[in-house]
Amino acid sequence: MNKIYNNLLNNKKPVCVWGTGYIGLSTMAFFSQKNIKACGYDVDKKLVNSLSRGFIKNDDFKKWLGFEIKPYVKKGKLSFKSELSEIEKIDPEVNFVCIPTEKNGKPLMNILQKTIKNIKKVSSSGIIIIESTLTPGTADKIIQKYLIKEIKNKKFLFAIAPRRDWFVDGTKNLTNMDRVFGGINKESSFLCKKILGIVCRKLHMASSHQVAEMVKSFENCYRHVDIALANQLSLAYPKDNIRETLKLVGTKWNIGTFYPGFGSGGYCIPLSSKYVISGSLKKKSLGILQQAIKTDNHINILIANSVIKKKCKKVGILGLSYKSNLKVSTLSPIIPFIKKLKSNKISVKIFDPYFSNKEIKKIANANTFKFPKDLSSFDCIIYSVNHYNFVKNKNKILRNLKCKYFIDNTGEFKNSLNTLKAKKINYILSGEKNWI
Ligand SMILES: NC(=O)c1ccc[n+]([C@@H]2O[C@H](COP(=O)([O-])OP(=O)(O)OC[C@H]3O[C@@H](n4cnc5c(N)ncnc54)[C@H](O)[C@@H]3O)[C@@H](O)[C@H]2O)c1
Repeated sequence: MNKIYNNLLNNKKPVCVWGTGYIGLSTMAFFSQKNIKACGYDVDKKLVNSLSRGFIKNDDFKKWLGFEIKPYVKKGKLSFKSELSEIEKIDPEVNFVCIPTEKNGKPLMNILQKTIKNIKKVSSSGIIIIESTLTPGTADKIIQKYLIKEIKNKKFLFAIAPRRDWFVDGTKNLTNMDRVFGGINKESSFLCKKILGIVCRKLHMASSHQVAEMVKSFENCYRHVDIALANQLSLAYPKDNIRETLKLVGTKWNIGTFYPGFGSGGYCIPLSSKYVISGSLKKKSLGILQQAIKTDNHINILIANSVIKKKCKKVGILGLSYKSNLKVSTLSPIIPFIKKLKSNKISVKIFDPYFSNKEIKKIANANTFKFPKDLSSFDCIIYSVNHYNFVKNKNKILRNLKCKYFIDNTGEFKNSLNTLKAKKINYILSGEKNWI
């Protein structure tokens, strides 16, 4: 155990990171910053080529990271490979698994299985630390199928250390945030703690890998339920100002603030309840999560119906991402919303500074429009997310509006009521009375 740790500290072996997207690249970058070598393996050759030049395409990720990776690439602290044979030469001892574990809103096992097989192929012994999000019970299935012998004869240690980083806020990163981890045995837990301790300040050791695995899905399903509850309350009290009510509810010391809106999106929250249900032996006990999924999937359809009822013919949407300042459209609630409008023969166009027309067409089957000039061509505008670019151009947005309805999912325009009124635009803020 100490040998593995010392080999890292002495730069005899790098940490090997499987999958160099948001999670994997950030793991590598933070280790290299601590003078530890990191080598990443990814099947995306283009990505590997650009990272090997020290180039990160995503500006927001760069901002979140807060430092350049180029100097570490130049110093040989960071390297990226797309050939397994290159990793085999290293015979890595510390393996971080950061590959995707979901696709189209469903848990995905095959990349994880392949990665474990690859690790067994190229690494003669060491530790496997899973950073990817797993459905409760997944790790045990993987261990049973691929690692049981290797764990019994101590060839491999095994731990789970889920990630919580918030890639919009640079302070919520690997170094600063509380991190939970748990190993399959004591040796795994202690080695994982030492390795994570190189970069993470606040570590919490779970009593087992199963507990650590569950923590990630459970914490996300709490948020999922909160988001769904805000929407249920606004549906149950349509004539009241639920946005204001929930803002004031959130002033209580032990309650968060959640507003009604289009619902959750992204890789984690919308899937979390599904993850928890699918791993449970008593699924019927989780009615609250079943309801959260239903409400969350349905709210955007109800908003679409309200737009259809208003007889809008041309809808312009500002924002495809599920969250501000991120280029992530995964499970964005705007996508089913658009589908519903289009199935009712309403023309829909989207502008999102993070996505090209080609990308928008592929993801949402809609075209983009010229921002801010073409805002004047719609009878209804949906302001779905608060990208910096939109906030910066707020006055330009207001100047170009000629619509009848402006639906604000964020509250950003609530102080522009006078301007909107003067233009005879009906301002609808999610969660206020009669918003749906
Ligand atoms: N992004 C987040 O905010 C976040 C937060 C917490 C947890 N997670 C979890 O972390 C995991 C990774 O997420 P991400 O956001 O980094 O995804 P990502 O899509 O940014 O990166 C995944 C990378 O894995 C690569 N990959 C695919 N198949 C591979 C294979 N067989 N071998 C090696 N590489 C392969 C892809 O090319 C991609 O570069 C997921 O389980 C996700 O749920 C993500």
